[in-house]
Amino acid sequence: MRVEDWDRYWRLEDLRRSFDPLDFRRWKRDSQRALRELHPRDGVRLLDATAGMGDHTVNLAEEGFVVEACDASPVARELTERALREAGLELPVIDACWEALGEVRPAAFDLIFNDALHWTYERDALAAQLRGHLAALRPGGALVFFFADAREPDEGAGLRLLEWDWSQLGEPERVEWSHASSELSITLRVHATRGHDFLDERHRFEERRGDDVRVTELTMRRVYRWDWFALSRLLAEVGFVDLRSEVFENRAKGYTFAMNHAFRPR
Ligand SMILES: C[S@@+](CC[C@H](N)C(=O)[O-])C[C@H]1O[C@@H](n2cnc3c(N)ncnc32)[C@H](O)[C@@H]1O
Repeated sequence: MRVEDWDRYWRLEDLRRSFDPLDFRRWKRDSQRALRELHPRDGVRLLDATAGMGDHTVNLAEEGFVVEACDASPVARELTERALREAGLELPVIDACWEALGEVRPAAFDLIFNDALHWTYERDALAAQLRGHLAALRPGGALVFFFADAREPDEGAGLRLLEWDWSQLGEPERVEWSHASSELSITLRVHATRGHDFLDERHRFEERRGDDVRVTELTMRRVYRWDWFALSRLLAEVGFVDLRSEVFENRAKGYTFAMNHAFRPR
C-alpha cells in the first residue's frame, strides 16, 4: 500500500475508534508479552517498524523493551506520538522506510518487530526491505515477523489459507462498520476480489453530515505468497540465519499464532 493510502487508512481508523473504542492494546498484548518472555534481559533495544497507531509501541515499551518506533506514514507517526503521550511514555518515533533502515539506524537494534512484512507483494521490493532490516540489526540481533508459520512448511500453505479466508468471506461486499447519530452517519463498505495469491479489499468509507457527503476509498491487499516455504528462502538469500518459529496463544481472542525470528549473523 502507498504511504498516502496508509495515511488515509489511519485517519479513518482513528475516526472509527473514536466511536468504537475497542481495547486494541489488550488483544494485541499477548505477542508482546510472549516476545518479552523470550528476551527477558534488561536493555534489549527494539525497533517497532510498524508503528501504526502505536498499539504495539506502547505495549512493547510497557513490557520493558528499550523501544524506538518508525513508520513511513506521517499520520501513523502522529497517532503513535499521541498514544505515547497518553500512556505517559517518551521514546523516538522516526520517519524511516524499511528499505533505508540500515542508513538511518545502522546496527542499532537487538530486535526489530514487524507485523506487516508479508503485505509487500513484489519479491524485489520485499528483498530490499529485508536488507534494510538486516542492516539495522546489530550482529546477533533478530527480525521478528508474523504470518509465515513453520507448522505448515510446505509450498502452497499460503494458498490454502487464501482459500479458507475467501470461503469465510461469504458475499464479496460487506458492511464492515457503521455509525449513525443525528448529525453524522458513517459507513465502511468493503468489496473483496481475489487473485492467484492475494485478496484485494476495496474500502469505501462514506461520511454524511446533512447534505454533505464525503467518500474516501483505498485498496488493501492481503498477500498470501509469503508463507514459511517462500519467506524462509528469501530471508536466507538476503543473509538472515537461524530461522525460528514459535507458537503462542492469543488469550484475548482465543487462537494460536506463530511468532518468528530470523537472525543477523554474529
Ligand atoms: C499493518 S500496519 C501496522 C499495524 C500496527 N502494528 C498495529 O498493530 O496497529 C503496517 C504499517 O507499516 C507501515 N509501512 C508499510 N510499509 C512500510 C515501509 N516500507 N517502510 C516503513 N513503514 C511502512 C505502514 O505505514 C503501516 O502503518
